Amino acid sequence: MSGPRAKGAAPTADRLIVGIGQLVTPAGPGAKRGPQQADLQVLDDAALAVTDGFVSWLGPAVAWNGVARDEVDLGGRGVVPGLIDPHTHLLWAGDRFDDLEARLAGVPYQRILARGGGIHATVRATAAAPRSELLRASRARLADLVASGATTVEVKSGYGLSVEGELAALEAIATLRAEAAVRVIPTLLIHLPDPDDRLGHLQAVIERLIPDVAARGLAARLDVFVEREAFSPREAERILRSGRAHGLDLTLHADQFHAIGGVDLAVRLGARSVDHLEASGVEQIDILAQGSAVATLLPGVSLELGLPGAPGRALVDAGVPVALATDLNPGSSPLHSTTLALALSLRLNRLRPAEALVAGTVNAAAALGLADVGWLGVGARADLLVLPEPDWRALLHGLGGPGPLEVWAAGRRVDRHAPGPERGAVGLEPS
Ligand code: NIG
Ligand code: FE
Repeated sequence: MSGPRAKGAAPTADRLIVGIGQLVTPAGPGAKRGPQQADLQVLDDAALAVTDGFVSWLGPAVAWNGVARDEVDLGGRGVVPGLIDPHTHLLWAGDRFDDLEARLAGVPYQRILARGGGIHATVRATAAAPRSELLRASRARLADLVASGATTVEVKSGYGLSVEGELAALEAIATLRAEAAVRVIPTLLIHLPDPDDRLGHLQAVIERLIPDVAARGLAARLDVFVEREAFSPREAERILRSGRAHGLDLTLHADQFHAIGGVDLAVRLGARSVDHLEASGVEQIDILAQGSAVATLLPGVSLELGLPGAPGRALVDAGVPVALATDLNPGSSPLHSTTLALALSLRLNRLRPAEALVAGTVNAAAALGLADVGWLGVGARADLLVLPEPDWRALLHGLGGPGPLEVWAAGRRVDRHAPGPERGAVGLEPS
């Protein structure tokens, strides 16, 4: 471990944050693999200057000789970068309590899906819900993730299924994005084939949905669920190639239950990330180690469905960059805390705390193709967490707490109690 260097000329800043007892961060942008996955820089008694929402200076507090319009003292608390949650399905309506009861009675998740429940049930409930209700419920989930420390949250469509349903979902995500204090990254998810018209649906996705989404800028990322109950690798390849032709970044749900070729496809097509991997074995780990995709693990799914955890330890040891996400959804991962996703990875994927922090920050940013978040240094967005305990590992040792004391986005405290018409309003302190 070494300390980040003080960088940047003595400047004028909008704000200076002082009283940082210890700042812990990945060194800079880009996916970290192998031993680098555990590499954190530590700076004691630090100060951080913010200009236009970005870090304009970072170094030992005694070395600051600039001018700041405003100064905030953290009183010796620790700081880490804001967490990045690179895989969520938080836009949904309805509930899956009946599925939960069925699963608890022994019916497997896939059987519930095959008989028209599961994801199909959420598709029906989402289509039936008034838009205001869909937004109210989703806003509250986003607020939960932010309270847990997420300052960038990916949100997938995927409960729309039809062309019109998916477009409506992405429009709702655009509304969340416009009003949120944190960064929201939309993804078009092609979740399940239409059981009544598999070919026609595929054709509509390729000929109408993807071109429309790309042309309207509703999402810059495309995801496909590759699984026995969902799309075959061949079908997924057609969808993904079409997305790429329209300039979309690619990601996949692969190897959740069966390793049927999703990993191979992701690496062949140069996907930015491949997510799930609970069923991946030595062969898939080898393929990933040859490629550049980030492996995004979702420990909430292992916990909820009682599946073995994805082989996080083996992936890191093989030199595959590993990221972590909540996969927040009503079926396989009702996990409303990004911090808890990291904490679970220590237990279910055998990551070390430093590896998990890198997985939940800079590697998660890389999975989304983002270079200005997931680390703290000059040029990064001033997204950070103020820690409840002097040692940052407290955040990952506890289960369900202690969470971050404060969450900052673009250099301003996110006010969890901002006045708003509904629970979950995510406001900023007045500037
Ligand atoms: O990431 N695997 C497919 N999609 C989601 C589950 C969605 C649901 O059950 O509603 C996942 O696990
Ligand atoms: Fe998912």
